[in-house]
Amino acid sequence: MAFSRRDFLTTAVVGSLSLGLESQEQKQQDSRKAQTRTLAGKRPIIVSSANGYNYLDDAYNFLRGGGDTLDAALRVVKGPEDDPNDHSVGLGGLPNEEGVVELDACCMHGPSRRAGAVGGIRNIKNPSQVVKAVMEHTGHVFLVGDGAERFAVAQGFPRETLLTDYSRKVWLLWKETHSDWWGPGLADPNWKKRFPAGKSQKDEWQIRMKRMKEVAAQLGIAPEQRATAIREVIFPPTGTIHCSALNDRGDISGCTTTSGLAWKLPGRVGDSPIIGAGCYADQDVGSAGATGSGEENIKVAGAHTIIENMRKGMSPLEAGTDALKRIVRNYNGDRDRLKFIDMTYYILRKDGVYAGVSLWEGYASEPGKPHRIAIHDGSKRAEKTVNLFPGLSQEWPPTPA
Ligand code: GLY
Repeated sequence: MAFSRRDFLTTAVVGSLSLGLESQEQKQQDSRKAQTRTLAGKRPIIVSSANGYNYLDDAYNFLRGGGDTLDAALRVVKGPEDDPNDHSVGLGGLPNEEGVVELDACCMHGPSRRAGAVGGIRNIKNPSQVVKAVMEHTGHVFLVGDGAERFAVAQGFPRETLLTDYSRKVWLLWKETHSDWWGPGLADPNWKKRFPAGKSQKDEWQIRMKRMKEVAAQLGIAPEQRATAIREVIFPPTGTIHCSALNDRGDISGCTTTSGLAWKLPGRVGDSPIIGAGCYADQDVGSAGATGSGEENIKVAGAHTIIENMRKGMSPLEAGTDALKRIVRNYNGDRDRLKFIDMTYYILRKDGVYAGVSLWEGYASEPGKPHRIAIHDGSKRAEKTVNLFPGLSQEWPPTPA
């Protein structure tokens, strides 16, 4: 698949249109610069969500040395899965409402056109490795829950406790201060202090925040971790890692792994393990993956939509922008609701041209930290994604300012 000057011009125009509402000239210049860099695709290349950045060197060297594209991508995502301080995947991922960590992952191997997936798997730290085993050792594609765990154990994966001291305490903080039934009830002598009559919504929030800080201290959450813990309680994150890898022969693979939405209902599965939503790779076209609001991405089959768009001739940027617009269309363009949706796509075409696109520039809870795509094609870097709407997404559920 050749990448022509016409493709580049279209790409640049779409980039500037999508940013047209932004007042800051600097943002447009940055975006154009990023798209200019994609004019000539390089191979080999690895792209990932920003949380893969620290693991790109090792994977890139492996790929350059002739390593398989899926194995290279798995090297990247294993890093955050093993990291107890990454609360979005694997060990240390935030649990469901019952305090149990349930992990989702999927992979696609372009050269052999195979796929593997697990949903809601418990007690196994590296679901990304399990999905490869599903792909290689079964005639199935997708295993869930208890069956996925037993398969993993049969394959030699150790059962491990995935709840860390921190994630257990944040879950308790959520349970006691933000869920329905835990925490002292009416018999508590202090109940009037906790539910004072005649307070405004804002006052009630201040009381709730004060109580969260107190309970966080009682639970022994370190002072420097309390603000993060409270933010994770109020705004359940859906952190995820995606990675796609392309070698110099044009083989391409991808994988996505997550602990999913924090405090979810047990059994809830997001987009990450769904082939065609959280990840899709086609050896003829490219690979794409997603992080963000799983439920929204499932409804537009985001990764598959992007690959099919590119198959029909769209550039990576156009293909990703179109998938985002399908999410926008599902809400009839109502930004009062869309502002609660966060979505980022990471796209790698077979010729090495890539794009990172997102619905919004970043999260309101992390101003100054725009969404980024991490890249290694001989030089390692992280680039700001091209956002469809100016501004930041708001966390769901809404809270008083
Ligand atoms: N995108 C991850 C999830 O929604 O579970």
